[in-house]
Amino acid sequence: MTQIKNIGLFTSGGDSPGMNAAIRAVVRSAIYYNLEATGIRRGFDGMIKGDLFPMDRRSVSNIIQRGGTILKTARSEQFKTVEGRKLAYEQLKAHNVDALVAIGGDGTFTGAKVFGQEFDIPVIGMPGTIDNDLCGTDFTIGYDTAINTVIQAVDKIRDTAESHDRLFIIEVMGRDSGLIALRTGIAAGAEAILIPESKTDLQSVFDRLERGRKDKKSKIIMLAENGEAGDAFEVGRQIKEKFPNYDTRVSILGHIQRGGSPTCMDRVLASRLGVAAIEGLIAGHRNEMVGLIHNEIAFTPFEHAIKHNTDINPDFLKIVEILAI
Ligand code: F6P
Repeated sequence: MTQIKNIGLFTSGGDSPGMNAAIRAVVRSAIYYNLEATGIRRGFDGMIKGDLFPMDRRSVSNIIQRGGTILKTARSEQFKTVEGRKLAYEQLKAHNVDALVAIGGDGTFTGAKVFGQEFDIPVIGMPGTIDNDLCGTDFTIGYDTAINTVIQAVDKIRDTAESHDRLFIIEVMGRDSGLIALRTGIAAGAEAILIPESKTDLQSVFDRLERGRKDKKSKIIMLAENGEAGDAFEVGRQIKEKFPNYDTRVSILGHIQRGGSPTCMDRVLASRLGVAAIEGLIAGHRNEMVGLIHNEIAFTPFEHAIKHNTDINPDFLKIVEILAI
C-alpha cells in the first residue's frame, strides 16, 4: 500500500446543507495528520477539466454555518464514459492527488465506485444529500436541515389552511424516497402521507378523508415527489373531484429544502464523518462510504451504500394514522 500524501475532495450531485462543514472537516483533518488537501470544483466535471487547487486551514474558515458548497457541485455526463474517467485520473496524477473524498449521494458513489475499481486510487465517500436514502448511515448530511426547513414551511401553510378551512397537498423532495415526507408528515401533524415505499395509494387517502373528522376542514397531506399517485397537482385534481366540498390547494416546496444554514445535528455529523473519512483513508479503507450507524462510525462498501433502501419503519405510518383521528 502506497502512503497517501495528498487528498482530493469534491462535492457532487445535489447540494445539501452541511456540505461546507464536511469540506472544513476533511481539510482540517488532512492537515492535522500532515497530509495535503486539494479542492476539486464542480465534482467530476471539475476533475475532468483540471479545476483543482490547494486548500489550507484558512480556506475553510467561516464556512461551517453556510449552506450550499464552496466547492460548487454538478452532475457529470462525461464521467459516465471510460474516456471521461481516464481524463479525470490523468488530472489527479498531474496534481499529485493520490486519494479522494467524495461528498454526495448515490449518483456520486456510483461514479466513485467505478472509478475506484478502474484506477488505483482510494476513495472514501461521505453521505451528503437531503434525501437520507443511502444504506450504511442512519442519517445523511443535510437531511436534518431539510426536514426542519420543511416543517417550518408546513407550519406556515397550516396557519393559512386553518384560517380558510382548506385542504393542502404539500409536495416535498426525495427523488425516489419518501423519507422526507414521512418524518415531516409526523412532525407537522399531517392527516395522510403518500410515499413510494409504502405503496400508499390514493384510495387509502380517500378512505382517511372519508373517515376523518367532518368538522375539521383544514387538512395537510404530505406527498413525496415522483410517487405512483402522480404529482401534487394530479393528486389535488383527484381529491377535488372526489371531495368537492374541500377547498383544496397545492404547494410544492421545491429547492428551498436544499438551502439554508445547517442545523447543529448536520454540522456535528459532517464534522464527525470528515474526521473519520481521513482517519479511514490513513487506516487503509477504500471504496467505502463512511456513515453513522447507531451513533458509531461505520464503513460500508459503495455497492451496498447505493442500494436504495426501501425499508421504512412501519411504526411511523401507524403513528400518522393514530394521530390523525
Ligand atoms: O437528491 C437531492 C434532490 O434534491 C432530490 O430530492 C431531488 O429529486 C433532486 O435532487 C432534484 O434535483 P435538481 O436540483 O437537479 O432538479
